[in-house]
Amino acid sequence: MTTRHLLTINDLDAAALHALLADARAAKADPTALYGALAGRTVLLHFTKASTRTRISIETAVVRLGGHPIFTRGDELQLGRGEPIADTANVVSRICDAIVIRTFAQADVEELARHATIPVVNALTDEHHPLQALADLMTIEEHLGALQGKTIAWIGDGNNVFHSLAQAAALAGMHVRIATPEGYEANPEIVGAAATVASAHGGSFSELRDPAEAVAGADVVVTDVFVSMGEEAQADEKFAAFDGYQVDAALMAQAAPTAIFMHCLPAHRGEEVSADVIDGPQSVVWDEAENRLHTSVAALRYLLG
Ligand code: CP
Ligand code: NVA
Repeated sequence: MTTRHLLTINDLDAAALHALLADARAAKADPTALYGALAGRTVLLHFTKASTRTRISIETAVVRLGGHPIFTRGDELQLGRGEPIADTANVVSRICDAIVIRTFAQADVEELARHATIPVVNALTDEHHPLQALADLMTIEEHLGALQGKTIAWIGDGNNVFHSLAQAAALAGMHVRIATPEGYEANPEIVGAAATVASAHGGSFSELRDPAEAVAGADVVVTDVFVSMGEEAQADEKFAAFDGYQVDAALMAQAAPTAIFMHCLPAHRGEEVSADVIDGPQSVVWDEAENRLHTSVAALRYLLG
């Protein structure tokens, strides 16, 4: 049997995505139903970037399934002192049952997976954040019902969180609109492939400049920080470029009256979103954060059987 990984959302097909979301709903409805699936097993969580939600949700998911998480920060593994990724993958594969990694380069996570004989889960790279996208789709379905045909408007940076959400929304047959300033568009290869997947499933893709055009009548309005982890040196130039891209009440008012606001968090009130929107009645960010747990449980079950 080939080892399953979750390096990007493209590791799932539509059937696997919907099954995983159904499992996450079951895990949320009855957290005890899945206890024991990882009994006696260990999962290495190796993070070289900060994390609140991803770390606590995956650690809790492993424990809920009866397993034991081993959490290590950047320089705690010999990897941080130059031990090759391949050697690390070989050793961890002999002892643990899965590796969850948060780091900078997507290529490093892919190299780890090439050499591992256990599932590797991408817990965020500069390019992708698949676990976040699973929680996002679960949250949209919870609040608005069937995903297919719903319109998502992403305002701001064409970043890692967007790439994964775009891939997931495409598989679910949603209409994805993104409004970015010039120079901060999403990766064209990822967008091109996601657009093809979206149209195969009845959805569509539009790349825009104007936030108002993206948001018009949308069911879901989403944003993320303007400055991602690792981009601190570009902060001034990014803040200047993203002037006019804040999701505020005036922008939100142009979405559908039933529209929800989402943000993967952490949020910076007054930058990418105004406080009245993120703390207002259309915001579902706390459900979105909680659903990181239920979708992590489902993802581990999918990968580890
Ligand atoms: N949304 C998210 O991944 O949050 P953390 O960086 O806190 O894990
Ligand atoms: N785009 C952000 C997401 C944090 C969860 C980052 O990469 O820092």
